[in-house]
Amino acid sequence: MSRTCHICLLPGDGIGPEITAEAVKVLGVMSELSDVTFEFTEALLGGAAIDATGTALPEATLAAAREADAVLLAAIGGPKWDTTDPDKPRPEQGLLGIRKALGLYANLRPVKPLDALSAASTLRPEVLAGVDMLIVRELTGGLYFGARARETGVPGAATGGGVGMRAYDTMTYTEREIERIARTAFDAARTRRNRVHSVDKANVLESSRLWREVVHRLHDAEYPDVELIDQLVDNTAMQLIRDPAQFDVIVTENMFGDILSDEASMLTGSLGMLASASLGDGTALYEPSHGSAPDIAGRGIANPLAMLLSVELMLRYSFGMHDAADALASSIEGVLADGWRTRDIADEHTLPQRTVGTSVMGDLVAARLRAQ
Ligand code: IPM
Ligand code: MG
Repeated sequence: MSRTCHICLLPGDGIGPEITAEAVKVLGVMSELSDVTFEFTEALLGGAAIDATGTALPEATLAAAREADAVLLAAIGGPKWDTTDPDKPRPEQGLLGIRKALGLYANLRPVKPLDALSAASTLRPEVLAGVDMLIVRELTGGLYFGARARETGVPGAATGGGVGMRAYDTMTYTEREIERIARTAFDAARTRRNRVHSVDKANVLESSRLWREVVHRLHDAEYPDVELIDQLVDNTAMQLIRDPAQFDVIVTENMFGDILSDEASMLTGSLGMLASASLGDGTALYEPSHGSAPDIAGRGIANPLAMLLSVELMLRYSFGMHDAADALASSIEGVLADGWRTRDIADEHTLPQRTVGTSVMGDLVAARLRAQ
């Protein structure tokens, strides 16, 4: 039976359009090889949307995302829109806004270094052996969504001691928000190695103390079979480098997860290898964990693999196309095993003629898919 999957594409800024083109290319090949047709609707988000409409998340974008079966987002942001003025629009408001509007509270970031890339990591191969973790980052609460303000006229706040400015952000969590993300983590652990590290800062923060209580309550009531380990976030930052193979599932607050996932990406050799799935109760969104890399935008050298690995997650989670997802994953591994690299994952063994750009990397993956 033939089937059509509607995908809302959000290319965004910087290298976003370049890596989006590779995702479309690969999905085109998948259409040819199967009875599934992928249809695309492109919409504006981030800086591109600010330039065209004055806002980072136009209504039309939200409508297109809601209508689609899945959303594929590349990256947003860039120096052009960098400002510390709280009254000016920022590209990040588009990303945070769409996550919130679609109710995407669970961000899954798998970190599994590929053998072919072990020389690309700054860590020794024996440290990387057996690393296979899933970071479950809470995505619509915490510090990125709590009350914030900049206050003026505050006595004693100026650098010289006089009347000046003060700013604050707040980390807020409800029991409900904590319980649903913990559930995502425990469910995921049951399909993996059955271990969850719950990462918090309960020795200092009240929101972390509630986090810990709720995670344990849920664990004891419904998931006693899953191994649960509490870890303080500063310790986790260290353990990720010291002994990353200890982790199966890490579940943590929004900002802790943002920071720890960038750190963990280096176990794979490059931030350009880290995919993500953002899931909620409705349409899901898939995006690489890296940013828009404005320094290399438009040069055709960006690594499209985190984007293609995000496509793999989309095929699995939104479309249930596990065979197609497996084929894509093994095509990517095959291309890397043959020694092909983008610059960010090249090492001293990479042949100069096998160091390729964005579009050739996409072609290589597409060719492998066809050959399977
Ligand atoms: C990420 C990014 C975003 C985040 C930024 C661009 C707002 O760093 O997806 O990890 O902090 O969530
Ligand atoms: Mg980040």
